[in-house]
Formats: sequence, C-alpha cells, structure tokens
Amino acid sequence: MRLLVFGSGRGSNFQAIHRSILKNELDAEVVAVISDVHDAAIIEYAKNNDINTIVVDNSGKERHEYERLIIDNIHDLNYDLVILAGYMRILSSEFIRSLKMPILNIHPSILPSFPGLNAQKQAFEYGVKITGCTVHLVNEIVDGGKILAQRCVEVKNNDTVDSLSARILEQEHIIYTKTIREIIQGKITLNMQKI
Ligand code: GRF
Repeated sequence: MRLLVFGSGRGSNFQAIHRSILKNELDAEVVAVISDVHDAAIIEYAKNNDINTIVVDNSGKERHEYERLIIDNIHDLNYDLVILAGYMRILSSEFIRSLKMPILNIHPSILPSFPGLNAQKQAFEYGVKITGCTVHLVNEIVDGGKILAQRCVEVKNNDTVDSLSARILEQEHIIYTKTIREIIQGKITLNMQKI
C-alpha cells in the first residue's frame, strides 16, 4: 500500500510507521512526506531516510491557495492512503475531496471526547480517569470522522499532562501502525476509491 503522509512536527507516529515498514511488519511504502514546516523533525527524518519530501510554506497564504499548491505538488503521485501524523492544519472539504483516497488521523483522546488541540491537557484538566487515543477517518468535521480503532490509557494520581501524554503517545504508535496493517490485510475495509 502506498502511503502519502502529512505532518507538521516531531513525527514520532510517522517514525513508528516507517520502522514497521523497514522491519517488514507493514507491507507499505511511503510515497512522500508533506509538511507546512520546513524544519519539522518529520521532514528531517524523511530526508535522512531517503523519503521524498514536499514542503509547502503556508505563511501569507489563504487556505485555498495553500491547499491548491499541495494538490499541484502531489498531482503526479500514486497513493492509496493518506496518513495525517501530527499535521496541524484543518483540511477544507474541497481538499479532502481532491485527495480522493481515504485519509486517516490519530488523535490523542478517546473521541468523541476532547476533539481539537491539546486533547491530553483537556482530558487531564477535566479530571477523567481514563483517556487514550483514536485512529479515525478524516471528514470535514474536525476529529469527527468514522472511528477505526481506540486504545485506553489510565490517568494515574501522580500524572502530569506530560507524563500522561507520553503514555498516550506509546499507545498511539502501536495503534496507528496496527490500524494501517489491518487496512492492508483487509481486516478493516475502507472504500479505497472515496471516503
Ligand atoms: C500526536 O499526539 C497525535 O495524536 C496528534 O499530534 C501528535 C503528533 O505527534 N495528532 P508526532 O508528530 O507523531 O510525534
């Protein structure tokens, strides 16, 4: 399966996915990593691993102009699945439609609780005893697409937002890779033509 990856930051989920590919635990290849941040760690990692990178700086651009540039850049690429891995931009419905293939995202809470930014902090401050992470399809509602997989993480008495986030992240790495594998194996069926 050919993966098109979008990310804006650290890229630890992408690294986990890529490591699984290198270990032949995931029958996939990465067509390109796309970012809005030139010096994002995800881009550095991709370059160090000879993965095609595309960076489209969004500064001073309207969203549709920025998205148009990305579409122009990926026009000739063949991909089966789009993976958002810490991509910090909200996708317009036009952009989602023009990507054509299903788009996956990982979110650090048990959706539909705590969508949006800083989900771990939202959950921590709310005082939940269990939180976790969710892999879902992307639609035009932020963090609102069909849920494909979830993992729970218990909040401990001595947790901080950071310690809780770190334990959630460990589960993210496991669940994101596992979900992609299950899609490849046909255990999770998606409409591969269109969401
Ligand atoms: C993760 O917490 C993910 O759930 C959220 O953004 C963060 C990305 O981290 N969507 P990384 O770039 O994969 O390390």
